[in-house]
Amino acid sequence: MEQDRINQLVDIINRSSYEYYVLDSPTITDQEYDDYFRELLKLEEKFPMYKRQDSPTNRVGGQAIDKFNKVVHQRPMLSFDDIFNEEEVVEFDERVRKLVPNPEYTLEPKMDGLSGSLIYEKGVLVRGATRGDGIVGEDITFNVKTIKSVPLHLTQDIDIEVRGEIYMSFDSFEKSNQERERNGETPFANPRNAAAGSVRQLDSKITAKRNLDFMAYFLPNPEDYGIKTQEESLKFLRKLGFVTNKNLNQVVSTTNEIMMYIDDLGAKREKLPFAIDGVVIKVNDLSDEEKLGFTSRVPRWGIAYKFPAEEVLTTLLDIKFTVGRTGKITPNALFHPVHVAGSLVSKATLHNEDYCKQKDIRIGDIICIRKAGDVIPEVVGVKENRRTSSLSPFEMIRFCPMCGEELVKKEAHHYCMNEHCPARKIESLIHFVSRDAMYIEGFGERIVEDLYNMNYIKKVSDFYDLKKYKEELKELEGYGEKSIQNLLDGIEASKQNSLERLIFALGIRYIGKKTAKILAKKYKTMDNLLSTTYEDLISIDDIGEIMADSIMNFIQNSCNLDLITELKEYGVQMLYKGMDTKNNSYIENKTFVLTGSLEKFSREEASRIIEENGGKTSSSVTSKTGVVVVGSHPGSKYKKALELGIEIWTEDDFLEKVKKNT
Ligand code: IVH
Repeated sequence: MEQDRINQLVDIINRSSYEYYVLDSPTITDQEYDDYFRELLKLEEKFPMYKRQDSPTNRVGGQAIDKFNKVVHQRPMLSFDDIFNEEEVVEFDERVRKLVPNPEYTLEPKMDGLSGSLIYEKGVLVRGATRGDGIVGEDITFNVKTIKSVPLHLTQDIDIEVRGEIYMSFDSFEKSNQERERNGETPFANPRNAAAGSVRQLDSKITAKRNLDFMAYFLPNPEDYGIKTQEESLKFLRKLGFVTNKNLNQVVSTTNEIMMYIDDLGAKREKLPFAIDGVVIKVNDLSDEEKLGFTSRVPRWGIAYKFPAEEVLTTLLDIKFTVGRTGKITPNALFHPVHVAGSLVSKATLHNEDYCKQKDIRIGDIICIRKAGDVIPEVVGVKENRRTSSLSPFEMIRFCPMCGEELVKKEAHHYCMNEHCPARKIESLIHFVSRDAMYIEGFGERIVEDLYNMNYIKKVSDFYDLKKYKEELKELEGYGEKSIQNLLDGIEASKQNSLERLIFALGIRYIGKKTAKILAKKYKTMDNLLSTTYEDLISIDDIGEIMADSIMNFIQNSCNLDLITELKEYGVQMLYKGMDTKNNSYIENKTFVLTGSLEKFSREEASRIIEENGGKTSSSVTSKTGVVVVGSHPGSKYKKALELGIEIWTEDDFLEKVKKNT
């Protein structure tokens, strides 16, 4: 009885979601929907054994989880190459025409969210996953179930994988940010970040509140359903209960039509309820798709046209000068905050005096801002015709804004040469703890600056004595007992870092990450490096006169030697722990198979690393294979590994495991 009613309610509610989201024509009122929903919730509470996997009550979220499980995609989730102008559209079309004489293309908005994969078994949603690195994603099933435009039960009871974009509409984005501001939280920078952050919540109740959406656009196995074109895929997806961009997707056959579509969609862009960042062009006929195939990384049968970076006008309020670790002075534009490419920005670098003079940039000017690579804001130029009053031309400062020392100009940049300048000291401390250097987790710019100003840390060796201020640190705003302990633990752990991190962290002029590694590998210990000669240094490939001079200057300076002695006394290790010194329990005694195109290292390199760490490589996958490392476009070895349930690593997994050299 109750079970029948539960079944009936699940079906009514799921069907009405379909009518609402896909058909855009609801047949029941919101009130009726709410009543059915409440009745179902009550019944399920009383009779949990009858709760169905596809119950719409899953949409409110469930128990929080500890971590996301990794899932290996049944077929890699690839993306397209990006193009930016008409010329590249024509080139793409020419490339296609070489293999397919009269292609038809589907044109679709390029949704600006994150791609997701949904797996249905017998019509019921059983798994949702993020793209991850394309081979391995994260299991976000609980979170995906909260997305109302994701059908929990398809209109047909089939097994199928569906891919599309998880995104946040502008409307939900505004609402989420209003709420975040009310709660004193930092607003999301743009809808894409908001969607990505929301879908990766361990507590699906939070995801449910964020009101995400899903736009379906791709079937990895269309042939299994007798589908012959991308257009048919989209129709089929709609029939199954997915939302597609029905009114915006289009089929065309010439580059002229493609450009018209791009212009048209570009003009509509601002009025759409969701963010898009371009147009996806796909060959429509799936047999043509097969003929075109893939390059080593991406499909040849499609491409993503990206809209030009959005440019926005604003007023330049001030130019503030900052001092870097090397004493370099950088002018920065502070402007009236504006939304650019989805996020609110208020400052951008102006690089140096010449840059400011070339652009004739003046405080009070109307300036044009854009985001380079959609991430870093830059000043494109000044609207001189909108300069209303006589604004003063840019003038470079002559003295350090922090310590007052007279600046010295070297090539394009000005420098504060005072080694005791507090700004330089703080920047050096920030560099020491940064990710590529000693990587002491939890230390951001703000806390380092605070610790410097409170006189707890004046030089890098002071980090290792910070524990003596443990009680005082607990008084710091925003830090509790636990976070202070984490900071101190991070400091302790960093003592075990390999030598190259320390060399880089010391901030020797011209010595970047790569050179630090070369030095560590060559000298093995800090003492060896300290007793080197100019001739020895210059004999190393990749080390030229400037670097050798800089290293010699560093090691001949008694303050630096004292500092290194102090670090040693605190127990900081100064040994190279590279591959040739230790075996690795993740690799040792295992047989590895490499498949697909590897981008981060060559096969030879990978094989060498495996061997150095006590593993073996083999060319075929068998039940004895320990791990298969998968690059892009893996072939039958990847399939076989899936079938045999063999551990699969991406290139990143491999690098991570190599780093975790235990
Ligand atoms: S098709 C092989 N269609 O943009 C790629 N992708 O490079 C199959 N995207 O990572 C994906 N809108 O996340 C496809 N209508 C659309 C899309 C779309 C946005 C994303 C997708 C992919 C990237 C394309």
